[in-house]
Amino acid sequence: MSHIFVFTNHKGGVGKSTSATNIALGVASVLKSSGASKAQVLLIDTDSQAHATLVTTGRSNYGSQDSLYAVLMAERQDAARVLTECIVRSEWDEALHILPASSMLEGAERELMGVPGAPYRISDPLSKIASHYAAVVIDTHPSFSLLTEMVVIAATDAIIPVEPRYLETVGLLSVIHKINDIRDGWRIADLRVSGILVTKMDCRIRGHVQLLEGLKSHPILGKLLCGVIPANEAVSYAHDAHQSVFNYNPRASASKAYAELVVALIRCMAQG
Ligand SMILES: Nc1ncnc2c1ncn2[C@@H]1O[C@H](COP(=O)(O)OP(=O)(O)O)[C@@H](O)[C@H]1O
Ligand SMILES: [Mg+2]
Repeated sequence: MSHIFVFTNHKGGVGKSTSATNIALGVASVLKSSGASKAQVLLIDTDSQAHATLVTTGRSNYGSQDSLYAVLMAERQDAARVLTECIVRSEWDEALHILPASSMLEGAERELMGVPGAPYRISDPLSKIASHYAAVVIDTHPSFSLLTEMVVIAATDAIIPVEPRYLETVGLLSVIHKINDIRDGWRIADLRVSGILVTKMDCRIRGHVQLLEGLKSHPILGKLLCGVIPANEAVSYAHDAHQSVFNYNPRASASKAYAELVVALIRCMAQG
């Protein structure tokens, strides 16, 4: 079974796109360099702001015919073909493929309201092509809208990036409950919350350290903590340069932390 990781949190600016893009590249690179027979990774950008698309492909002007929007609007029998046709190679690595977002996604949810089978318009075609990839990574926009629900339905693993701030962490349990509700409501047996990823951690800030300690000792959240990414200006510089943080500076603290997480995710993929 292919692992389909969705990075989601209804908060914006918590590192969803940064994590999804760098982890997608990291998984593809590690698998490729270890000689794995299947190393390609597909990154799906579902955010109409198209940040993940922009940094990985160098453009964000995808439209109605060459983006996720086209897949959402396709007839059921054509959707897998349209999905395949819309996928482009990233500029980061030939093994990293992108299904681009489009600004048109903003109106897509309204257009899909009341359309029979609408919630399955991503999971259906994706299930037909996911096995071509070692993993699929999905970036989401900051809300639990229909589009987010559609990709959570398609996923096997939900990872929740969160900043170590009080108001960010108090919402964590509600995000987990929401994902569990989607799993139970749609009977998606394979879906689980597989990690909370703390991002932009600054050990010099006492509040950050206290919140991380609080998370670690929490009976539910503590078990889900899957990584801590330090606040590191290399991340912003990498975005400006449309590069991965690994490529921008492999020795940066964020690169090392993302590399550790990539190894852990590949181990989890190998376990099935
Ligand atoms: N580890 C980090 N250190 C410093 N800045 C970061 C880090 N992770 C993300 N950022 C910055 O935070 C902002 C929001 O990140 P982003 O990944 O776009 O969040 P989201 O997708 O959740 O809205 C961006 O400007 C990004 O460069
Ligand atoms: Mg984003």
